[in-house]
Amino acid sequence: KMNAFVSNLMGKMTLEEKIGQLNLVVPGGGTVTGSVVSQGVDDNIRKGNVGGLFGITGPEKIRKIQDIAVKNSRLHIPLIFGLDIIHGHKTIFPIPLGLSASWDMGLIERSARIAAQEGTADGLSWAYSPMVDISRDPRWGRIAEGSGEDPYLGSRIAEAMVRGYQGKDYSQGNTLMACVKHFALYGAAEGGRDYNSVDMSRIKMFQYYLPPYKAAIDAGVGSIMTSFNDIDAVPATGNKWLLTDLLRKQWGFKGLVVSDYTAVNEMIAHGLGNLQTVSALALKAGLDMDMVGEGFLTTLKKSLQEGKVTLQDINNACRRVLETKYKLGLFDDPYRYIREDRVAKDILTPANRAAAREIAARSFVLLKNDRQTLPLANKGTIALIGPLADSKNNMLGTWAVSGDLQQAVTVREGIRNVVGDSVKILYAKGANLTDDTTLAKNVNVFGPRAEIDSRSPDVMLHEAFNVAQKADVIVAVLGEASEMSGESASRSNLDIPESQRTLLKALVQSGKPVVLVLMNGRPMTITWEDANVTAILDTWFAGTEAGNAIADVLFGRYNPSGKITASFPRNVGQIPVFYNHKNTGRPLEGTTFQKFKSDYLDVPNTPLYPFGYGLSYTTFSYSDVKVSKQNPAGNETITASVTVTNTGKYAGEEVVQLYLTDPVASVTRSVQDLIGFRKIPLQPGESKEVSFNISTENLKFYNSNLQYVWEPGEFIIRIGTNSAETKSATITWRK
Ligand code: IFM
Repeated sequence: KMNAFVSNLMGKMTLEEKIGQLNLVVPGGGTVTGSVVSQGVDDNIRKGNVGGLFGITGPEKIRKIQDIAVKNSRLHIPLIFGLDIIHGHKTIFPIPLGLSASWDMGLIERSARIAAQEGTADGLSWAYSPMVDISRDPRWGRIAEGSGEDPYLGSRIAEAMVRGYQGKDYSQGNTLMACVKHFALYGAAEGGRDYNSVDMSRIKMFQYYLPPYKAAIDAGVGSIMTSFNDIDAVPATGNKWLLTDLLRKQWGFKGLVVSDYTAVNEMIAHGLGNLQTVSALALKAGLDMDMVGEGFLTTLKKSLQEGKVTLQDINNACRRVLETKYKLGLFDDPYRYIREDRVAKDILTPANRAAAREIAARSFVLLKNDRQTLPLANKGTIALIGPLADSKNNMLGTWAVSGDLQQAVTVREGIRNVVGDSVKILYAKGANLTDDTTLAKNVNVFGPRAEIDSRSPDVMLHEAFNVAQKADVIVAVLGEASEMSGESASRSNLDIPESQRTLLKALVQSGKPVVLVLMNGRPMTITWEDANVTAILDTWFAGTEAGNAIADVLFGRYNPSGKITASFPRNVGQIPVFYNHKNTGRPLEGTTFQKFKSDYLDVPNTPLYPFGYGLSYTTFSYSDVKVSKQNPAGNETITASVTVTNTGKYAGEEVVQLYLTDPVASVTRSVQDLIGFRKIPLQPGESKEVSFNISTENLKFYNSNLQYVWEPGEFIIRIGTNSAETKSATITWRK
């Protein structure tokens, strides 16, 4: 039915109208996420020169634009409306790196479902999410938008997000099309500098970087966005191997491929030719929609006349845009996502906010908790100090384009909401987010995130120190400004900014216990902090309900259960430092320096906090690993199990992690790879057996011929609380 409908429609379309469908515009005046905006948008819509639009929200505004397409263009083809709905639409959830730290697929799916509910109530049918780029480089600001360093966890999260956004289908009008991005390998930008080149072996791509995109595709994602970087010296947006050979032929993707913002035009700066050349290259490579740059709109007709592209190339892309609109139901009812009455009913509802609070608390990671300083008692005096303790401007995190900063709950407000007057709170800002005026100016491009106070740093520090003297415990809320991570927000120094470190050092000198509540869009270098403060709770950027959720955790209303999904380096020079590294021919055993081993003179090889690490207010013990068979063969499935016991006094949740080591293979393998996990609740004293099925599917890897195979022999199965603390059992898998 869809084929016939689209063929019939295409039969009526002029060449110009077909090319028009490939044009995705951003009119300005709403959300702008690139350096140019489209001109003459209304007129172009009337002429049939626009296929979709993004950056505008709200049923009224969107209705007006849809009216132009449906009532005033020759063929009345509706537009598709997209937006960066990344971690929530109006109710903002934790940044994706934070969400991933929950290791809770149900929760992550729920966050995407609520985002879809709100997005569709706001007139949208296309979300530019999930972002699934694996990154091993926290200098890269966009690590905040992904799920960290592991392909297995990243793949499960990609599937959960797609399920959340798209639901079972689009029939109810409250689900929307997801867009997996950025295809591909964007997270491996050299030096962590955004948009930088990527050069990677095929085996590394397939083993570590490509699985999450593939998982999203297998989960039925409707669209995919190309990345800005080059791959094998050809920009992704014009890379035929990537967009056609791999994506369509090998992986069987049938949906829509859209470029990133002006990524077609950027191939000129990459050095591939003029706008006509790069536009033809992108179309022939397999790109369907050109975001903002209008290279397709302005050059494809000429390229067709000159034989540089074929009518078939244009038809293929046009068909995919029209099919997408068909699947979303826009030909049945162009206004089905435009329902003015849904705004009040579905957006920022108490239920959505409650979910955001619950989800945020579950994303936090307890990094240190000496002397069981946390949870805090519901009495006494707390010195609440720091530029992020009461900063509405910094709660939502990067890519919360529709989030309302004023709706966000600060930590100061959250503590008041949770403990009322039972605790005396003394507040002082203590320091600017940064005193570096250049850094402040650069992060303030989207608004005042890192304002510099009119008072002198000394005056602020003095005030904070005085406040600290009067308290039983200090809660220091420090870290990055929200726009210190995200797009075009790479950093070469991952310390907490100097102004805040000076404050923290003074607070530590007060001799009082110091709880550091960290806000951050990436793993930071907090080696000094780890050695010197009493407790550290990593809260990422937790969204609309940040302050309430942080207070819930600080005061023990929820026992933290998050685990980091990207390793925290000890210093920037260690980067990349990640858990699934290779052994090398000269592996270091232990942590002390040895000559002629693969190590550093001045820092251990291990990160400060390893992948999968996170504490709880309670403690968990693990039994030895039991395997159902030591010597399985062929297609058997075995089980590996442990008994986990809550040995502390709080109810808690534990993420039980399963890793595999393949010590001998035809290619070098990682020292271990995550192949499973389970998050379980345990009451104090309670034990549960956690059992994982393992089959040869779990043993597979890419060999030198890029075949996905397993090779018989010895395997070490590891189960534990994080990637560095596991118990193991060795098995031999026969042919
Ligand atoms: O979706 C984004 C992408 O992640 C970065 N460039 C702009 C796009 C649209 O806003």
